[in-house]
Amino acid sequence: MTSSNTPKTSHTPNPPAPAATSPTLSVTEITTPRLRLRKAHDADRAGFIELQTDPQVRLHLGGPRPRAAVEQYFDAMGVAHVTHKPGTFVIADRATDDLVGVLLIHRRPRDLPGHVTEEGGELELTYVLRRAAWGSGLAFEAATAALRAAASELPDQPVLIVTQTANTRSLDLAARLGFRRVATFEAHEAEQTLAVAELHSFLA
Ligand SMILES: CC(C)(COP(=O)(O)OP(=O)(O)OC[C@H]1O[C@@H](n2cnc3c(N)ncnc32)[C@H](O)[C@@H]1OP(=O)(O)O)[C@@H](O)C(=O)NCCC(=O)NCCS
Repeated sequence: MTSSNTPKTSHTPNPPAPAATSPTLSVTEITTPRLRLRKAHDADRAGFIELQTDPQVRLHLGGPRPRAAVEQYFDAMGVAHVTHKPGTFVIADRATDDLVGVLLIHRRPRDLPGHVTEEGGELELTYVLRRAAWGSGLAFEAATAALRAAASELPDQPVLIVTQTANTRSLDLAARLGFRRVATFEAHEAEQTLAVAELHSFLA
């Protein structure tokens, strides 16, 4: 990858983590040639509502949510709340700042199935793009930059992707990113595939 593709990051210190919580990445903004990963603001509301209510986007994520319930949620909670946790980003078009999708690097809860270590709580990558943004390599670009940022600030460790086995677009993306499939299991009445990569494989 050329130096023009090197993500640029800015840091905001996290508050001290509780002893039982392992860190995720602390950067709040990452730029790539076409994208800016950033925190949410009010103008993202329509994009978030579309992500939650689009039947194609939600096909392997439990189905679309009722629009009224989603609107009520944002009325009550506000928009910024969606990305308040470290490692949670709006994927925005770098030129227009429009919301293209959402990306998370969180810790996979120990009480969910799908782990590669005894203790669980591994880093887990999750991504969702608006339907109109599929097929342009934008999820790959966002994920590569976020994983590289995580690799540059955290010790080497496994990072997971868990996705429905029927979700071929997501599995293709995982494979392009260098994740290898290690297991399948049943959850939410569907077969899930667990894929893993070593975090430091994303260092430039
Ligand atoms: C999973 C998801 C993010 C994948 O999006 P995507 O656009 O297919 O993924 P990528 O960013 O890797 O783009 C790959 C596609 O862009 C094309 N492409 C075009 N320009 C490209 C470029 N510059 N670089 C790379 N790929 C490019 C590739 O050929 C490929 O096209 P194809 O799928 O038609 O073969 C998207 O389908 C989605 O949001 N699904 C719903 C949410 C979901 O299920 N998330 C999984 C939860 S973990």
